[in-house]
Amino acid sequence: MLNRRKETGLLAAALMIFILGGCGTQEDPAQEEPKNLKIGVSVYDQYDTFMAEVLSQFQAYTREKEKDWGIPITLDIQDADQNQLQQNKQMDDFIEEGCDIVCINMVDRTDASSIIEKAKSNDIPVIFYNRELVKEDLERWEKLYYVGADAFQSGEMQGQILVEECRKDFSSIDKNGDGVLQYIMLEGEAGHNDSMIRSMAVIQEITESGYVVEKLADEIANWNRDQAANKMASFIEDYGDRIEVVLANNDDMALGAVDALKDSGIMPGTEQWPMILGIDGTDVGKKAVEKGEFLGTVLNDARGQARGMIELAWSIVSGRPLESDLELQEGKYIRLPYRKVTSENLSEIQAGQTQ
Ligand code: GAL
Repeated sequence: MLNRRKETGLLAAALMIFILGGCGTQEDPAQEEPKNLKIGVSVYDQYDTFMAEVLSQFQAYTREKEKDWGIPITLDIQDADQNQLQQNKQMDDFIEEGCDIVCINMVDRTDASSIIEKAKSNDIPVIFYNRELVKEDLERWEKLYYVGADAFQSGEMQGQILVEECRKDFSSIDKNGDGVLQYIMLEGEAGHNDSMIRSMAVIQEITESGYVVEKLADEIANWNRDQAANKMASFIEDYGDRIEVVLANNDDMALGAVDALKDSGIMPGTEQWPMILGIDGTDVGKKAVEKGEFLGTVLNDARGQARGMIELAWSIVSGRPLESDLELQEGKYIRLPYRKVTSENLSEIQAGQTQ
């Protein structure tokens, strides 16, 4: 394995070719084939349902790739426990351990300076994932990358699922018959790219499709099922039957709404049950679609993102070209597409994920 911090002479020249050659995504004959790969991974919160799925897929892919590439791959996975200072410290540990590359799911996506500086001064490439940095930060060094998805697309698809249902049977959604969709919005985190963009895009999609909406309430529940259930319980007290639609920025919060509705005696399949829509398509989210608790969700491709991360890491460290189906946009971004999930295509989606 190359120790990039100590290299001199020939190796430094090889590294220059590597940089000029387009950040490891172009084949570089001068680059020595790595004999092993050590990756440091930090997650903002290991108890976040979607992130837990991404990490378990990442571990599974890593085991597969060890066989394909014939090298041992060591992963050091750390939980930042929602603490940015702790995550900065984890970066020091990854450097100390001699990681070849690190994958960081920022706690505070607006506070990446410390990690970027450490990475740059130790010449360790960083793949940021899921919590998208502002573009200016990602442009601060050529070895900074991002793997995730296009937040706008997920909000747009969530809106499309509702619109398609409205076109089929508007009157059963518009329970009070006033021609307006009264909705509750459950938002992820303040300042999180996915929260802000999903909340905006879903409403844009519904209104541009010709439906009139009225926001009853809008609250942040930090992607969390229990927090969402608490907020929803008070919305049920305040608005009761007037709630026609619940738009949640992720499945866990949509499930919190399901919990609160059931606790208040409103049951799925009854006339009072509102249309509930999540995003992520986690295992529990898909189950809620299957049970008819959600009208739908939008698949956030944990598997594809995990694959994108490991393939990109290997390409950067080995200098080999990236797998041809993975597009590295602007030399920095891999964005996996979202997919709509409803009772109509659930089995097809599930079959695709077990292939
Ligand atoms: C979003 C995902 C949420 C949560 C969040 C964490 O993409 O939809 O469920 O995991 O990332 O950053």
